[in-house]
This record gives sequence, structure tokens and C-alpha cells, in this order.
Amino acid sequence: MNVTKAELIISAVRPEQYPDGGRPEVALAGRSNVGKSSFINKMINRKNLARTSSKPGKTQTLNFYLMNDSFYFVDVPGYGFARVSKQERQKWGKMMETYFTKRKELRAAVLLVDLRHPPTKDDIMMYEFLKHYGIPVIVVATKADKVPRGKQQKHANIARETLRMADGDPLLLFSAETGQGKEEVWAALLPFVSG
Ligand code: GTP
Ligand code: MG
Repeated sequence: MNVTKAELIISAVRPEQYPDGGRPEVALAGRSNVGKSSFINKMINRKNLARTSSKPGKTQTLNFYLMNDSFYFVDVPGYGFARVSKQERQKWGKMMETYFTKRKELRAAVLLVDLRHPPTKDDIMMYEFLKHYGIPVIVVATKADKVPRGKQQKHANIARETLRMADGDPLLLFSAETGQGKEEVWAALLPFVSG
């Protein structure tokens, strides 16, 4: 897909702030610093629309990015960042649970995992949470540029097994650095963002 127009509509923390209009939404999910914001930028060829950082905990709100006036990417704060207080973690949990369990416009989630390492306990929990609520999941194993080509498939298989993924669910290799996997990910997203 060629995204020619992309704009941040709102950074929301409460449902009343979510955008109106009923357009389909695809939400990112994944550990803090795994590359959710970088994923959005690479998919639409924009360097810095979604703010990224080498330090975890950059994204703090639900950021609704409108693409081609037709669908949203929803960037979310990551999980598994140790240096946050219990209170902040609870706030995060509530905000995420409300969005993922109640939002009618949510069509699918892109769950980002780090191809270099097996998925963490938190990744497994997130995958199971999304499945439990019947949200279609596309697992994207990112930072593929950090894994030699010859080893990528093996890492992908380990990720698939560790998450105990359903046979029909896609796991796609991706790199926000090189753009590897971009077309495959768009192909997987297309059914969810078109109407
Ligand atoms: P939070 O907002 O904290 O949840 O993090 P995030 O998941 O949005 O991560 P972000 O996109 O900010 O990226 C974190 C760091 O990983 C940045 O330094 C990125 O440049 C780097 N990064 C993201 N994707 C890739 C990738 O595919 N390859 C490489 N080599 N680095 C990446
Ligand atoms: Mg982010």
C-alpha cells in the first residue's frame, strides 16, 4: 500500500478521546523498545511521524494515526519496562485493557516481537490475551536486520513455538532498518484496513 497522507489525530488516554468516524483500526502491541513506533514509520516511509527513542517507555498514550483518510494505526505504550512504578503499570493495564476489549473499530493487532530472542513471558501473555478476546493477530518479528539471513527462519520457528501460535496465524519477518518484510506485512494487513 502507498500511504500518501498520514497524520496524528489524537493522543488519547480515555475512550471519550478516541476518534469518531468508525474507520478501521490496527493497533500495535509489544514490549517497550521492541520497535512499534519505528514499525509505523517504516510502513509509511516517514522518518519520524511516530516518535521513537533508544530508551524504552517513549510512547505513553494511545496515538491514533490516520492513514490516507481511511484507517488508523494506533501506536501504544509498550509493556515489560521494569523502571515504572506499580501505579503506572496499573494505569497502563487499564488503558490497554479498555482499548483492546471495548473498541469496536479495532480490526486486528500487530504483535511485535524481537526476532533476536525468544518471546518473553509478557509476549506470550499478550498473544493469549488477544486470542482470548478474538482479536486477529499478526505477529511481526522485527529487528530482522540484527539476525543473519541464514538464521532468521530458525529464530522465526522458535518464536512461533514459544508463543504456541495457532496454525493459521501469520508470523512475518520485518526490519524497520532495511524495510525487509514490508510488502508481506501490508498484504497481511490489507483485509483488515479496507472497509
Ligand atoms: P516504546 O514506545 O517505548 O514502547 O518503544 P517502541 O516499541 O515504540 O520502540 P521504538 O520504535 O521507539 O524503537 C526502539 C529502538 O529500537 C530505537 O532505537 C529504534 O531505532 C530501534 N529499532 C526499531 N526497529 C528496529 C529494527 O527493525 N532494526 C533495528 N536495528 N533497530 C530498530
Ligand atoms: Mg513507541
